[in-house]
Amino acid sequence: MSARPLAAQTGAAHAAILGLGAYRPARVVPNAEVVEAIDSSDEWIQQRSGIKERRFASPEETVQMMSVAASRRALEHAGIDPRQVDGVIVATVSHFMQLPAVAPLVATELGCEQPVAFDVSAACAGFCHGVALAADMVRAGSARHVLVVGVERLTDMLDRTDRGTAFIFGDGAGAVVVGPSETPGIGPVVWGSDGEQYDLIRSRDDWRDVMAAETPVTPHLVMQGSAVFRWASFTMAKIGLQAIDRAGLTVDDLDLFVPHQANMRITDAMARAMKLPAGVRIARDIAEQGNTSAASIPLALQRMVDDGEARSGDRALLIAFGAGLAYAAQVVVVP
Ligand code: UT7
Repeated sequence: MSARPLAAQTGAAHAAILGLGAYRPARVVPNAEVVEAIDSSDEWIQQRSGIKERRFASPEETVQMMSVAASRRALEHAGIDPRQVDGVIVATVSHFMQLPAVAPLVATELGCEQPVAFDVSAACAGFCHGVALAADMVRAGSARHVLVVGVERLTDMLDRTDRGTAFIFGDGAGAVVVGPSETPGIGPVVWGSDGEQYDLIRSRDDWRDVMAAETPVTPHLVMQGSAVFRWASFTMAKIGLQAIDRAGLTVDDLDLFVPHQANMRITDAMARAMKLPAGVRIARDIAEQGNTSAASIPLALQRMVDDGEARSGDRALLIAFGAGLAYAAQVVVVP
């Protein structure tokens, strides 16, 4: 037996987000369009969630199409050619092919040259999982430029008559390019899961039961809203503070707070619990976009950039949380 050791692999000293892009479906759906089926009102929805409108994808606005559109913008922003991309991670729960993943299709349509490509199933936390994985890949040397996409067509999973979910969710995509950097641009991730609370947000049925049923119906998304609300408001603030601390910062060093856009009241409760200074600008994309699960953080950051609220070099705390229950938080530098 040879005693020769395996070669060690190392990558870039640091990783950063090099480019950002988003895709919002064309169709705007105001609260007035969803209230009748759930016996609700525009006033109730705005008060309880902060949502005024959301976007619903057309049949042409598929998971693949939206991913490619957001990715092209992120690549252009980063100044990276698709052929330089050697990793594609797509975070989604609404690609309805059980196999294979959508990531290889996205990579091929973009013109990437056979990169490692896979999907991540961590629901609303998926985008931050993808960013953490990509940063580790770049630093470990298993990839140099990784495209991370968060994309959802949640309307395919929505029961339009369910009062607890029909007004919350929407569709869209966001993407970032993660690559090497001279200074750290992606802080250490704080992430985890709580399978004890698995049932709080999930598909109502297992696909096998659906197919065995006499009249098959889509296994819609169901959620115990109040329990998720309490968990997110209190537990996630602690995770956010840990991510700030692990980045070697304090709340006074932050410029932006970009949490998963689940509910405006959850965002405000987290900001209060973390005692964020008044100068920290807070993402509020949920008002116009609803909750887009894995897509919500890049979409929210893109709106802040477009509105001039986020500038290159700003330090942003990201916190993502949702079904699993899964969560992930990190501080990133805006490209
Ligand atoms: O993205 C993954 C993570 N997801 C989340 O973080 C979502 C977290 N949860 C939430 O955002 C909130 O729980 C909701 C917005 C879903 C609901 O708000 P809530 O303040 O928790 O409402 P609730 O379920 O406690 O219901 C309060 C009241 C009830 O009436 P009573 O019993 O007080 O008379 C409900 O029947 O509001 C009623 N209600 C509604 N009324 C009008 C519940 N849903 C509706 C509705 N329209 N759609």
